[in-house]
Amino acid sequence: EKGGYDWFMLKEIEEQPQAVADTLLGRLTDSGEIMLDEVRLSDQDLRDVDKIFIVACGTAYHSGLVAKYAIEHWTRIPCEVELASEFRYRDPVLDRSTLIVVISQSGETMDTLMALRHAKEQKARVLAICNTNGSTIPRESDAVLYTHGGPEIAVASTKAFLTQLVACYLIGLHLAQVRGIKFADEVAAVVDQLHQMPGKLRELLSRIEPVRELARQIKSEPTVLFIGRHVGYPVALEGALKLKELAYMHAEGFAAGELKHGPIALIDKGTPVICIVPSPVGRGVLHDKVVSNIQEVRARGARTIVIAEEGDESVVRYADDLIYVPRTPTLLAPLVTTVPLQVLAAEIAAARGHDVDQPRNLAKSVTVE
Ligand code: F6R
Repeated sequence: EKGGYDWFMLKEIEEQPQAVADTLLGRLTDSGEIMLDEVRLSDQDLRDVDKIFIVACGTAYHSGLVAKYAIEHWTRIPCEVELASEFRYRDPVLDRSTLIVVISQSGETMDTLMALRHAKEQKARVLAICNTNGSTIPRESDAVLYTHGGPEIAVASTKAFLTQLVACYLIGLHLAQVRGIKFADEVAAVVDQLHQMPGKLRELLSRIEPVRELARQIKSEPTVLFIGRHVGYPVALEGALKLKELAYMHAEGFAAGELKHGPIALIDKGTPVICIVPSPVGRGVLHDKVVSNIQEVRARGARTIVIAEEGDESVVRYADDLIYVPRTPTLLAPLVTTVPLQVLAAEIAAARGHDVDQPRNLAKSVTVE
């Protein structure tokens, strides 16, 4: 049933190209309109939205952090992302023109469900992104966009994360279009880039082997740090979460710009620092800032493990290890940059002798608060 893989997680990582393709399939009409599955929200409701909160837990929260960059950029609607367990206890300002986007693979996470109910009591509209048909969260929401990742068995989320990102991008584009900010041809251009992702992911997975070797080299390190900027920052958080939950190692993700405000003190001789480098195309400033952060950590003795876009020669001299990912526009880059981090965490966990699919103390679906 594991299809020849040692672990479900490795199988699910390999299924990501298909999961992304399936989540995109049939979502776009000929006129460039994006189809949601269950929409009990009118276009007028969507035009009235003046604030978005994305609410989720764990990996789903990280997909929301990425989504904020895309949604604000495309729609110009202010968007905040919050952990479900914090959101409902802090009396957020919500009303009929607030859109809550809840993201949950299982559709049963208690904290997310309670946040959803709290938002509905305040008359906010709720749109769910969910992978499990008929689960509680989509049932109680005003609109649903299902991710078509198929069942995810490993406790650590992989393909659910990538499909959540795709769903968030689609929602951002849909909102932009309904509100007349982006037009069909612009939306279709981004969707076209999304349609290229399964091929890019296949290519990336076909040459992932060096990541396995890297995993063997760093498996006994006391600490692994991850740094990124912009959408690379949530990718850093996600990489660190995977490593914590699977390998039981101390791992932390930082916004690269925050290094000098404290975390740089953690760097010791040989400390692995995984650096997520944005595309040099378009947002050159962002790229150059990350490259200078890599130099800073290297000057303090770090082993720099650099994830960069294919063809980016500027990082070669600062990288102790270099992992290239296919060229991807910045906002969509987390779809590719996350994948080596998933493989790294799974391989380190396996090399340390842990159960990759069933890490200690964790459950697939967290139905208690
Ligand atoms: C991490 C992981 C968890 C879940 C979180 C939310 O790999 O799987 O952090 O992402 O428990 O679960 P859902 O998406 O089912 O609400």
